[in-house]
Amino acid sequence: MPLTLHRQDLLPARNRIGAEWSDALDARRFDVTDPATDAVFASVPDSGAADARAAVEAAHAAFPAWRALPAKQRAQILKRWNDLMLAHQEDLGRLVSREQGKPLAEGRGEVAYAASYVEWFAEEATRANGDVIPAPVPGRRMFALKEPVGVVAAITPWNFPAAMIARKIAPALAAGCTVVCKPAEDTPLTSLALVVLALEAGVPPGVINIVTASRERTPEVVDVWLADARVRKISFTGSTPVGKHLARASADTLKKLSLELGGNAPFIVFDDADLDAAVDGLMTAKFRNGGQTCVSPNRVFVQAGVHDAFVAKLATRVGALKVGPASDATSQIGPMINARAVDKIARHVQDAVARGGRVVVGGEQLAALGPNYFAPTVLAGVDAGMACSCEETFGPVVPITRFGTEAEVVAAANDTPFGLAAYFYSTDVRRIWRLAEQLEAGIVGINEGALAAEAAPFGGVKESGYGREGSVHGLDDYMHVKYLCQGQLD
Ligand code: SIN
Repeated sequence: MPLTLHRQDLLPARNRIGAEWSDALDARRFDVTDPATDAVFASVPDSGAADARAAVEAAHAAFPAWRALPAKQRAQILKRWNDLMLAHQEDLGRLVSREQGKPLAEGRGEVAYAASYVEWFAEEATRANGDVIPAPVPGRRMFALKEPVGVVAAITPWNFPAAMIARKIAPALAAGCTVVCKPAEDTPLTSLALVVLALEAGVPPGVINIVTASRERTPEVVDVWLADARVRKISFTGSTPVGKHLARASADTLKKLSLELGGNAPFIVFDDADLDAAVDGLMTAKFRNGGQTCVSPNRVFVQAGVHDAFVAKLATRVGALKVGPASDATSQIGPMINARAVDKIARHVQDAVARGGRVVVGGEQLAALGPNYFAPTVLAGVDAGMACSCEETFGPVVPITRFGTEAEVVAAANDTPFGLAAYFYSTDVRRIWRLAEQLEAGIVGINEGALAAEAAPFGGVKESGYGREGSVHGLDDYMHVKYLCQGQLD
């Protein structure tokens, strides 16, 4: 079924390079499918190296004028972009849900979440203050200025097709950078719709350039950007292996990097926790976007004294979740993004069971609903050797491990190369501070399952990457500091 929007022009289905909506130079296209059915409902350009180069040319040409625009004017444009996103929340939400699969309420919510980053960075644009530094010798004045890094390449994931674009492009534009962007191949349409609105808001041609490409052709596009010295920064959200590749491959031109990579978040429930609050927090954190978030709890540790009660309460809640397509307003969990995602989830469940784990609820694919549905699942008796403990499942599976002591669980929680998010529930104030400091993660939820916010720094440690998105730190990632020293003033 084609997607009908109030404003059909939000679906240009072409690249945006400079002042033009354009097809790939060799006219290739690839299909966009609805994850609920795998039916094709649109197609976009399958771009290659020549398109990637054209995008850099356009972004490079637009940079001097955009950086020279007073910050207040850039802020006003971003503010209008935020307003337009909210004015078209329904269309954008339906688009997000159609290409990504999340329930419509979440699609609408994601648009508001995306707009919150645009609004935040509109405000931050005018506060990119530098420093006046007391000089250590007479006759000198010393200053530190913040300047935009230049052309930024943004490579975005499929799980939040609106929010991840906004979280990268808004700070880049606020800082005075121009952008070339390759949206995820599964969800290219939302990014193009956002650009339609950005242009309407007054973003000049060439400041945002979007190049769509299939999975097969993406390396061709990204390799051009990696090799081009005019691209001064890469901002990537995605897997750790790809992040490492980008870090290695951008070394020759020493680009600045923001890498928001994989996670393996622990979620710890202590005997002294408020159990109902812990169940609520886990439901929120785990089942947002069907478990397809980098900060989704991937390993749930429950202390022995409350283990059985917690599992029983959780299983009741998980068993009651309504799975279905975005088109059904009652759906709480949509399809997974594609067959590869479902295969991984099924493999994790099978591996856990084969190694002695137990399915408490769910545990199987829901083929009657469509090709990509998986039942919300609780696994008990999980141990550290199982695939679901070592790899990010990225699906609606809660693997539960029983633990005894605080020291044991802190060691287990940190026993992973990743360090994006961690969560714990406890009412003991001393333990709260101990854990908050000991957990190796960039983001820690303390008696809270919903962590992300535009005003907060989002990012990881260890192999979950570096750089921060959102907050005041999110703007600094798109700027460098220039030191000015003026002498002969005595
Ligand atoms: C992500 O999964 O990469 C982002 C999640 C969020 O913004 O909360």
